[in-house]
Amino acid sequence: MMISSVHATLSLFRQSNNSLRSLKFCLPFSSSAASLSANNLSRKKSRQQPVLSALEYGGVKITRQDVVKDDDPTNNVPDNIFSKLGMQLHRRDQHPLGIIKNAIYDYFDTNYSNKFNKFDDLSPIVSLKQNFDDVLVPEDHVSRSYNDTYYIDPQTVLRCHTSAHQAELLRDGQTHFLVTGDVYRRDSIDSTHYPVFHQMEGFRVFVPDEWEASGMDGTSFAAEDLKKCLGGLARHLFGDVEMRWVDTYFPFTNPSFELEIYFKEKWLEVLGCGVTEQEILKRNGKSNNVAWAFGLGLERLAMVLFDIPDIRLFWSDDERFTSQFSKGQLGIKFKPFSKYPPCYKDISFWINESFTENNLCEVVRGVAGDLAEEDGTTTSP
Ligand code: DAH
Repeated sequence: MMISSVHATLSLFRQSNNSLRSLKFCLPFSSSAASLSANNLSRKKSRQQPVLSALEYGGVKITRQDVVKDDDPTNNVPDNIFSKLGMQLHRRDQHPLGIIKNAIYDYFDTNYSNKFNKFDDLSPIVSLKQNFDDVLVPEDHVSRSYNDTYYIDPQTVLRCHTSAHQAELLRDGQTHFLVTGDVYRRDSIDSTHYPVFHQMEGFRVFVPDEWEASGMDGTSFAAEDLKKCLGGLARHLFGDVEMRWVDTYFPFTNPSFELEIYFKEKWLEVLGCGVTEQEILKRNGKSNNVAWAFGLGLERLAMVLFDIPDIRLFWSDDERFTSQFSKGQLGIKFKPFSKYPPCYKDISFWINESFTENNLCEVVRGVAGDLAEEDGTTTSP
């Protein structure tokens, strides 16, 4: 299961209940499901490191007690997940995720004269209704299970996609918007999976005049506009790449598509999108309109763009990672470094007249190989 955190950004909702996905997940989750008893949970939690006890989202304070409930068997949020809330990597301009977010903002600002409103600090704590019902996810869909989603209590979850905000923003009168945020899915961890990652949701509502003038029906008009918009975005980020559209299924769109780009000899799925189900528009006061929506995984885009080989690196505060990226710089290629933390040792020794630095370096390289670099030698009298 790949790039699934990355990939799951797109795949969690596209399969029906009896799909591949439930097969793929049954092994890792059968063991974690067993640990869901209150006893196991609190034992697991007590081993965790202490975490920050309060944080803020859009001015709203969130405390550990709001998210982690040690004695509540309906809560499956561990401390290490709580510790990720409030990190807001996508709001750091020097971080690869912030750099990608800003590059996408630039594309929309330039091509749609600042028409898209941007939200990037909506709280990841949402109701079951926001996360699932509002976007028509069926009652028996696998994504609602305790195995797949972090439940704070039976009615409240950590959002598993930014689509959770579509309905509230529509009701708020928004017609063009981008929502960026951290999303949470119970998943295994490896170089391409992590239970917390970042998505950007895009949404555009059309009025009848717009499609009527084209002579097309609303749905075809929106689908064509969507493909034009996202094809342009892929070129803005990746240059002149080969790309293809794949038909798929999401509960909230019809028709639904995925965009794949050809990168490093493979087709990579970079986003899911489609024409919004009329029912969503109707329920939120937009009966006479048509809309498109998309959801893209920022980690996936960043791994491709910056050559970042491991999704866990995004959480690193090791300077050897963070110092490689700068605000607004899309062309950087990540240079791998040792997985071990840097280890500084001062070594002093007496030298005689015949000492040269080259001799010393040769002795060191004889033992450590070519990776050893000169980093300045000082001599004291
Ligand atoms: N929410 C989907 C996911 O996380 C991604 C997505 C697909 C969002 C299609 C959309 C959409 O807005 O139209 O898997």
